[in-house]
Amino acid sequence: MLSEIDHIRGRAESELASLSTIDQLEEFRIRYLGRKGLIASLFERLSDLPPAERPEVGKRLNEMRNHVRSAYEQKLTAMRPGPEKKPPTDLTLPGRRRFLGSKHILTQTLDEIKTIFGSIGFSVVEGPEIEDDYHNFEALNFPKDHPARDMQDTFFLSKTALLRTHTSPMQIRVMENQPPPVRMIIPGKVYRNEAISARSLCVFHQVEGLYVSKGVSFGELKGTLVSFIKQFYGSETRYKFRPTFFPFTEPSADIYIGCFICGGKGCRMCKKSGWLEILGCGMVDPNVFRYVGYDAEVYTGYAFGMGIERIAALRYGIDDLRLFYENDVRFLSQF
Ligand code: DAH
Repeated sequence: MLSEIDHIRGRAESELASLSTIDQLEEFRIRYLGRKGLIASLFERLSDLPPAERPEVGKRLNEMRNHVRSAYEQKLTAMRPGPEKKPPTDLTLPGRRRFLGSKHILTQTLDEIKTIFGSIGFSVVEGPEIEDDYHNFEALNFPKDHPARDMQDTFFLSKTALLRTHTSPMQIRVMENQPPPVRMIIPGKVYRNEAISARSLCVFHQVEGLYVSKGVSFGELKGTLVSFIKQFYGSETRYKFRPTFFPFTEPSADIYIGCFICGGKGCRMCKKSGWLEILGCGMVDPNVFRYVGYDAEVYTGYAFGMGIERIAALRYGIDDLRLFYENDVRFLSQF
């Protein structure tokens, strides 16, 4: 059996030398080193030998197996593909661009509004988004049966708590907490129970404005807001005031700017009217002063409110308010 072992060893060596693919190598491993391979069958035959011969033959067999196995492993390592070679660095390629983030267009718009009103003495305050009926409606002079108090428009959290439907309740909170004069803008989120569409969202932003002092006139309201419009939309912007109704102001007005898409001829954007509504305003109703304990005989004031999404949409010609919230970089990166 010793010569058989030597013979198999020689055969294995010369076969191994002639192999050139991984598949062939695997086939070799199974044939010689596998559980049912040639070498294993030699081991099985050990027990047939007379006991005296077993140690020597066993030793030779072990040596042979170790030799074949290590020769096989060496060959395998040599054949395995090494780590891929890196292509040489191409120094002529342009560098990778870094993309800088920027403020969301609504934040930019609000910043601009703050700057414009800040420059004429308005400070900025913020207030709670969860309100009570008293501040959101009652103290703002909404009659008990006013439709805005309906479940259809308002998200009620309980019988008394609700998500504010406008920033106007902060007029009440500010005046409750400080004596006149008051001159501030109040930005923040507001909530309406409405279906989301191109024209309406159920969460959006408003900026409220309030100026109360002695002898504040409608002329001042006009001067301030017209100056805002010209700074925000450009000095050539056409505008008009149209009487309207708000429970908390008297008289009240909506301000419109000339449609910049059609130049006033009438188009889809302005619903064929040539004008776009941008904000509501008016002189603070004396009833509101009574609710907060200001003397309506001594003080007068004006208030205004605008939707930030709307103000921005009109400035940039955006015809779908949902775009502000889709976070599509192709949209956002234009600003
Ligand atoms: N609160 C009104 C709204 O949400 C907007 C508004 C109109 C606010 C006139 C005012 C104002 O302060 O004077 O539609």
